[in-house]
Amino acid sequence: MSGQDDYIEVNRAAWNLRTEIHVASDFYDMPGFKAGATSLKPFELRLLGDVTGRSVLHLQCHFGQDTLSLSRMGAKVTGVDFSDAALQVAQETADELGLSAQFVLSDVLKLDLGKTVDTVFASYGVLGWLPDVAAWMQVAARHLPRGGELVLVEFHPLIWLFDQNAPVDYFHSSEPDVETQTGSYTDGGKDVDITSCYWDHTLSDVLEALRSGGFELTLFEEYDHSPYPLAGMVERAPGEFVLEDRIQQRLPHCYALRARKL
Ligand SMILES: C[S@@+](CC[C@H](N)C(=O)[O-])C[C@H]1O[C@@H](n2cnc3c(N)ncnc32)[C@H](O)[C@@H]1O
Repeated sequence: MSGQDDYIEVNRAAWNLRTEIHVASDFYDMPGFKAGATSLKPFELRLLGDVTGRSVLHLQCHFGQDTLSLSRMGAKVTGVDFSDAALQVAQETADELGLSAQFVLSDVLKLDLGKTVDTVFASYGVLGWLPDVAAWMQVAARHLPRGGELVLVEFHPLIWLFDQNAPVDYFHSSEPDVETQTGSYTDGGKDVDITSCYWDHTLSDVLEALRSGGFELTLFEEYDHSPYPLAGMVERAPGEFVLEDRIQQRLPHCYALRARKL
């Protein structure tokens, strides 16, 4: 494999495979979502605040649960993803539930909608599929007017260092980790092999990308748990998942930032 477009194609195929598994999973609880539950978690709900009437660009929207949760909250929302399988489910779900949202199929790093929005939002497992976090910030900046806001909630890059089964470096090369796993991070799909390319980005990569993208950081927080149960995690309190092996320690599991376009 060589070249960024090849890596992106590997990941697109991976996310097309993951979509069917995820839609059927308990992890994403589609029946609960369709019955009215929000898929948004307390961290981003607090950071986003009241989105009624606001235009929101949701980057890497997967099969649309968060996008449609924002629509239910009264936002005018556009979801972007490069997985055609995911966006097909997103559109079908919107139609079934009578919710309004626009879905755009695009490699996020090539996105140029030719318009700006009030808020760009992305969450939980977005930056690692991309070789260039500075390019991602430029895409976010391109879609915001001066004073527009970016809200990003991510898994903390330090948490992967404590995963006993996958020793990784914190500082890294520009080459991705190319891994084949059976199944996904959800339940189900145990007969499906999925190859994907992953780039680790340090916190300083993210903060420098923000600065060079023309943003002013207005909030940065780190959290001692994840709202999603990833591999090796147990629920220590309702909706709070932590690495079981390290349950005695308070480790950073997620971080969030809000930034204003200068
Ligand atoms: C872990 S999911 C994001 C989770 C999301 N917050 C949710 O609610 O499910 C990562 C998403 O990034 C998308 N993605 C990965 N690389 C991409 C790229 N280059 N362009 C657009 N979407 C991409 C995948 O298709 C996937 O839907």
